[in-house]
Amino acid sequence: AFVFILSACGTSKTSGGDGDKDKTLRVVTDAAYAPFEYQDKGEVVGFDIDFINAVAKQAGYKVKVEHVGWDPLFVEIKGKTADIGISAITINDKRKQTYDFSVPYFLSTNKIMIPKDSPIKSAEDLKDKVVAVQNGTTGQEAVEKLLGAESKNLKKFKDNNLAIMELKGGGADAVVADNTVIEEYVKNNPKENFVIIEDEAAFDKEFYGLLFPKGSKLKADFDKAVKEVMENGEYAKIYKKWFKV
Ligand code: ARG
Repeated sequence: AFVFILSACGTSKTSGGDGDKDKTLRVVTDAAYAPFEYQDKGEVVGFDIDFINAVAKQAGYKVKVEHVGWDPLFVEIKGKTADIGISAITINDKRKQTYDFSVPYFLSTNKIMIPKDSPIKSAEDLKDKVVAVQNGTTGQEAVEKLLGAESKNLKKFKDNNLAIMELKGGGADAVVADNTVIEEYVKNNPKENFVIIEDEAAFDKEFYGLLFPKGSKLKADFDKAVKEVMENGEYAKIYKKWFKV
């Protein structure tokens, strides 16, 4: 009976993680990272959402994307209450110890967002400044290397919009986050007078991947579909829609 209860709990949330294409896969995201994922009138939209829908369709799976937040996303994938995470998630060695990733689908790097009149010219200049980041991101890691992990000048927020709000309110001198996200923000909010600076020596090149529980049977099908969508013109269409190039 105990086993029955456990499995009943499981089926209420997931999963086609076993490769069953009739079940709808549960995809989790942190929808506070425009233009990759954000909420528009209660609906989760963005580049990543269109991309995962295209990839799932290509692979022959049904998916439903749900906003759960950044930290919960990792908890759910680790605990297998969700099948796939998509959230501009950088593929790195540390995460690979706990999770599986798809093949890469997007190139990124951290950059620095500052007020136009800021004296900050490079990552080095952040060392005696207050920097806001999203907790648990590669941006946080990069800033920790500059300021020290214990620095009280490092302010961590549960999502990136809160980090930007801190900068706007004057509680931080800079935000460090993925280039595309802060570049779009600055472009869409010209009156706020922010600029972006890059520092290729301080910030690595990164690639986004789909996040799976370790050992997920979905990885093979989705890797194949990611490559197909990137080559058959679908990716270019989605890219154009969200980045207007
Ligand atoms: N690419 C960075 C990382 O993996 C930041 C991603 C944040 N994504 C989000 N949806 N908030 O750490």
